[in-house]
Amino acid sequence: MLHRAAHERAWSKGETVQQSEHGSYLTDLHTDRPHPARIYDYWLGGKDNFAPDRQAAEHAISASADIPAAARENRAFLRRAVQLAAQAGVRQFVDIGAGLPSPGNVHQVAQSIDPDARVAYVDNDPIVLTHGRALLADNRTTTVLTGDVRELDELFERPELAALIDLGQPVAVLLLAVLHFVTDEEAREAVRRVRERVAPGSYLLLSHSTHEGNPERAAEVAKTWDKTTSGIRLRTRTQVADLFDGWELLEPGVDFVPLWRAEGPTEASTRWMYAGVGRKS
Ligand SMILES: C[S@@+](CC[C@H](N)C(=O)[O-])C[C@H]1O[C@@H](n2cnc3c(N)ncnc32)[C@H](O)[C@@H]1O
Repeated sequence: MLHRAAHERAWSKGETVQQSEHGSYLTDLHTDRPHPARIYDYWLGGKDNFAPDRQAAEHAISASADIPAAARENRAFLRRAVQLAAQAGVRQFVDIGAGLPSPGNVHQVAQSIDPDARVAYVDNDPIVLTHGRALLADNRTTTVLTGDVRELDELFERPELAALIDLGQPVAVLLLAVLHFVTDEEAREAVRRVRERVAPGSYLLLSHSTHEGNPERAAEVAKTWDKTTSGIRLRTRTQVADLFDGWELLEPGVDFVPLWRAEGPTEASTRWMYAGVGRKS
């Protein structure tokens, strides 16, 4: 159920929203086909997924049993990278392609360092809006917006974003496990627009799927997204590093997610995703 403001925002974004006979607002979540947010939620042990999502998620696991571990290691990278930005003094975060709420959300990590840290969660899947709103209902330092990584100019102009995030001050923008859902040109354009909009001292936190660590299994795992609207584009380390063009790429550069500033041995040390952090000087 969506309250009226969320309904109107979803409606203005062209999502399918219906008013039920009881007067509540329902978003058509297209539960008949798998969605990236819900597939990922299943791997992380969440409950916000439907049969087609579970079927797609299980396909990936049957092709490579370490996929859920890769998702968990990506969440661990999120924690390390958000801590890095917060310890450098950043107090505002924009998490684009945020996904469904999961333990160790950005605001929980950032606010463990400063309770006043502000976080805007953005995703183009309406289920994220519904669940995020419920989770964050009482939190005046966070917001959840529908928005698309391919339309960042529109996002950065939104009054709801400006109400929480001051783009004149450093901000950490997260693009974690999302750019593999868009074309090469759209991915390059997204990071370019972020760099143009954010203040010096801002950070880009990025992770991205790759075939390079598992060349023999990658094609089968990639079929997981065949029935989703986006599909998936696995990229090389060089292609991911190129996305940091114009940013100061912090040590150790682009590396496999569990190796990026590892704090110790990880559960599986998977090789499905690259990670990197850039700073705008
Ligand atoms: C694999 S999840 C990653 C969630 C979180 N960023 C993380 O790394 O833990 C990918 C998320 O990106 C969202 N997404 C996919 N395409 C998008 C787009 N074009 N714009 C915004 N979000 C998108 C999906 O709905 C999903 O929630």
